[in-house]
Amino acid sequence: MADISTDVLTIGTGPAGSATAALLSTYGVENMVINRYRWLAATPRAHITNQRTMEVLRDLGRDVEDEAYMHATEQDLMGENVFCTSLAGEEIGRMRSWGKHPLSRAEHLLSSPAHMNDLPQTFMEPLLFKTACSRGTQSRMSMEYLSHVQDADGVTTTCRDRLTGKDITIRSKYLVGADGGNSLVAEHAGLPFEGKMGVGGSMNILFRADLSRYVAHRPSVLYWVVQPGADVGGIGMGLVRMIRPWNEWLIVWGYDINQPAPKVDDAFAKKVARDLVGDPDLEIEVQSVSTWTVNNMYATQTSKGRVFCMGDAIHRHPPSNGLGSNTSIQDGFNLAWKLAHVINGKAGPKLLDSYSQERAPVAKQIVTRANKSIEEFGPIFKALGLLDSIDPVKMQSNMDARCDNTPAAEAQRAKIRETIAAKVYEFDAHGVEMNQRYISNAIITDGQKEPAFAKDAELHHQPTSWPGARLPHVWVHSDKGDKVSTLDLTGHGKFTVLTGIGGQGWLDAAKTVGKELGIDIASHLVGPRQPWQDFSGDWARAREIRDSGVLLVRPDQHVGWRKDAISDDPTADLRKALTSILDR
Ligand code: FDA
Repeated sequence: MADISTDVLTIGTGPAGSATAALLSTYGVENMVINRYRWLAATPRAHITNQRTMEVLRDLGRDVEDEAYMHATEQDLMGENVFCTSLAGEEIGRMRSWGKHPLSRAEHLLSSPAHMNDLPQTFMEPLLFKTACSRGTQSRMSMEYLSHVQDADGVTTTCRDRLTGKDITIRSKYLVGADGGNSLVAEHAGLPFEGKMGVGGSMNILFRADLSRYVAHRPSVLYWVVQPGADVGGIGMGLVRMIRPWNEWLIVWGYDINQPAPKVDDAFAKKVARDLVGDPDLEIEVQSVSTWTVNNMYATQTSKGRVFCMGDAIHRHPPSNGLGSNTSIQDGFNLAWKLAHVINGKAGPKLLDSYSQERAPVAKQIVTRANKSIEEFGPIFKALGLLDSIDPVKMQSNMDARCDNTPAAEAQRAKIRETIAAKVYEFDAHGVEMNQRYISNAIITDGQKEPAFAKDAELHHQPTSWPGARLPHVWVHSDKGDKVSTLDLTGHGKFTVLTGIGGQGWLDAAKTVGKELGIDIASHLVGPRQPWQDFSGDWARAREIRDSGVLLVRPDQHVGWRKDAISDDPTADLRKALTSILDR
C-alpha cells in the first residue's frame, strides 16, 4: 500500500512540470508535483518567451497571461542585438531581433494574439507553480524522486523526504518526468537518446550594475562582446544579457570543457564583468556564479508505458534561440489534455501514444537548431579575421582592417554584415517557434497533402488549417463588437468545432456526438448575422475550407480533422473523426 495516491505525479517544478501541473489542475485532474529543492529556480536561466508559449498562458487564463506581461520586459526593448568590443567600446554591428524588424513584427502581429517578451525563469516558474497550486495541485518541496516501478494499472514511485530523511511511496496512474537535463525518470524508464552531453562549458555570472548609459540608445536583451585573446587560447566572446532593465545582468562566458569547471571567485567575476562592459571602475554587486555544460541530445521516444518525459529531460541543448523553457511548456500543453481525457474515461490509452509521435520530432528539431546556431557564430569570427591567428595583437589588427579604404576591407565589411544578418536563424526564427505541425494517430488528414512552405520554414510562420497544424489566428468580432482571436474560441481543455454559414449540421453533430461520448464540444459559427463576424475576410482567407466546411480543433489548438464542405451525414463524420482521435 503506497503512502500517497494521486492520478498524475509530476517530478520537477521547472517550466515543464509547473506548466503541466497547472494545466492538469485547470482540467480538473487530481495531481501532485514534487521538487527535490525547497523552492523554484534560483537563477534567471530561460527568458525569451515566444508567442506560442504566451498562447499557452493565455489558455490558462487572461489573469495568468496578464501577470506574465506585468513582470516581463516588453518586446520593444528586446531586439537591438549588438556585437561590440565592449559595451563602452566600439560597436561592430547590430541585428534587429525577436520581431524588432518592422517586417518581422508584422509577421508576429499577424500570427498570434499574444506577444513575445523577456520573462526570466525566476518569474515564469512562480507564476506557473502558483497557478497549479491555487487550482488544486498538491505540491511537495524538498522531496526527491529516487525510483519508479510501473505495472498494468499504474506507477509506484519512491521518493525521499529530505526534511525527515524518510522514504515514501506515491502511487499514481501516470508519472511525468519533468526533472531536467539529468533526468533520472527518463533514465529509469529507459528512453532512447541520440546525441552527446557536455559538448561545451559555460559559466553564468549574475550581477547588479546600472548599465543604462551604455544601452539606452540600443535596448536589447543580448550584447555580444568580442575581445580577442580575452580568454585562454580562445576567441574571447562573452555575452552580456539583460535580466531586468537596466540594472540586473548575466554574463555568459565559456570555459574549456576538457578541463575541470573553473572556480570563479568574486574578484574573477568582477574582472570578467568590467572587461566586457569596458569600464574598469564599474560598481558591481555579484549575486551568484554557476557553471553549466552545453548539451546536444534528444530523446527519440518520449514516453514508455505510463511514464511520460518532457522539457530538458527529453531535449538538452544550449540556450541559443531561447527554446528551452518555451518547448518545455509546450510539451506540457500537448500532454495534459490527453492525460485528462484518458483519466476521465473520455479517451482510450492509445491517445497517449500520440505524445511521443508529436513531441519527439520537435525535440530533435530544436536541439539541432540550437546547436547549429552556436556554429553559426563561426562565420562572424572568420569575417572579423579572428580565426587566422591566436596572437591577440594580430587578431585585433585583422579586425581593425575592416576600416581601411581598400577593396579587401570593403569585401570584409560586406562579409561582416552578411554573417551578422545570417544570425536571424538564432535571433528571429519565428518559423521554428510557430510552425510545429504534428503527424500522429491523434491527427486525421484524410489523405490531404501537407502544404509546402512558400518561404524559409525556420524563419517565417506559415499558418494553415491542415490537420496537425496549430489553428491559424485571426481576429473575429462578436455581435457586440468584441474582438476575439480564433484561438480564444478554442482550447480550455475542450474540442472545438468551427464552421460558417451552411455548417449548422456540424453544430448539431457536435451536440449529438458530444453527448454520446460524454465530452463538452465547443462550437462556433462565423459569418454575417452569425455569433461571430469576419468583417475583414481574414478568417475566410485563413481557414482553407468553404463556408459550410468544418475544422475540428483539439484542446491544444491544433487542428485534428477538417472537411471542406458540409457532408451528407455530419454526425457520422464527426463521430468517426472524434472516436478515431480519442481511441474510443
Ligand atoms: P528544469 O531543469 O527547469 O527543472 C527540473 C526540475 O526537476 C527542477 O524543479 C528540479 O529541482 C527537479 N528535479 C530534478 N531532479 C529531481 C529529483 N530527482 N527529484 C525531484 N525533483 C527533481 N534556457 C534558455 O532559454 N536561456 C538561458 O539563458 C538558459 N540558461 C540556463 C542556465 C543553466 C545553468 C541551466 C541549468 C539551464 C539554462 N537554460 C536556459 C535552460 C532552461 O532553463 C531549461 O530549458 C528549462 O529550465 C527546462 O525546463 P524543465 O522544466 O524541463 O527543467
